[in-house]
Amino acid sequence: MPTPRLSARISSFRYPDGTVALSDILLDVMSGEFCGILGSNGSGKTTLLKLLDGMIKDFNGEITLDGDNIRRLSPHEIYSKVGLVFQNPDDQLFAHSVYEDVAFGPRNMGCSETEVKSRVAEALEAVEMADLAAKDIHNLSYGQKKRVCIAGLLAMGHEILLLDEPTAGLDPMGEYRMMELLTRLNREAGVTIVMATHSVDLVPVFLSRLHILSRGKLARSGTPEQVFSNREELSGVKLRLPYIAELIHQLKTGDNLPFKRIPLTVGEARRDILETFGATRLE
Ligand SMILES: Nc1ncnc2c1ncn2[C@@H]1O[C@H](COP(=O)(O)OP(=O)(O)OP(=O)(O)O)[C@@H](O)[C@H]1O
Ligand SMILES: [Mg+2]
Repeated sequence: MPTPRLSARISSFRYPDGTVALSDILLDVMSGEFCGILGSNGSGKTTLLKLLDGMIKDFNGEITLDGDNIRRLSPHEIYSKVGLVFQNPDDQLFAHSVYEDVAFGPRNMGCSETEVKSRVAEALEAVEMADLAAKDIHNLSYGQKKRVCIAGLLAMGHEILLLDEPTAGLDPMGEYRMMELLTRLNREAGVTIVMATHSVDLVPVFLSRLHILSRGKLARSGTPEQVFSNREELSGVKLRLPYIAELIHQLKTGDNLPFKRIPLTVGEARRDILETFGATRLE
């Protein structure tokens, strides 16, 4: 069994005001995984990412990074491998211009100005923000700020990326493109990715493994098929089926149409509809 890149055994974590934000968490992130932490508002997603990034250390339990106790690693040792993109871009951005913000990380890593320039250009290209490199950060829209935050992390070339709601606030095409970009990073550059989200319609298309958080506890871990197999359990944790799955579920149970399974994506649903009704595609 290979060593997980990140392994969390958290018995509890309590904020100073007494809120128990996490308890009984057992979670491993393997090398090359692209997994999601799915949960409703206040379920503990952001808190969990902050623990995995070593920002919060006063929890009960243990988190390891490549087998080393994260509490014993220096910030430099953690940040040379793991990068966290915050949920709110205003918590992350601080330089005046887009270029300067994205350049900060690589400069801090000691890259030459030529290297910085090429890393920034590549990262801004990836998030489709190249034409706004000179723009004042304060004048960007929310979605543009989110993209700059992600570019900032891309420019540093982390092996493990923790992303807190990377698609929230992006327009529908932007959401899709962001997921495609992350998929490319994962598949082609081998970046291990953990993303927190409540976009149930997007995750089955892109993610291979999901962890459902509910009131700070792990309610379920598994493939999208496993996690979305129980509709009642999902509503119990304030989530829902993807819309396409809900439609087929209603056709199957409400209208007795003979679907064999509940598809989770439009592509699967299309195949199942053609199969179920024996339709042949017109060429
Ligand atoms: N600094 C803090 N001090 C006290 N309680 C906090 C703090 N930050 C978060 N909490 C509480 O911890 C719980 C988990 O919050 P967290 O931000 O991790 O949830 P989340 O799943 O990221 O929610 P969202 O989907 O709204 O981003 C919530 O009950 C929240 O009120
Ligand atoms: Mg959050």
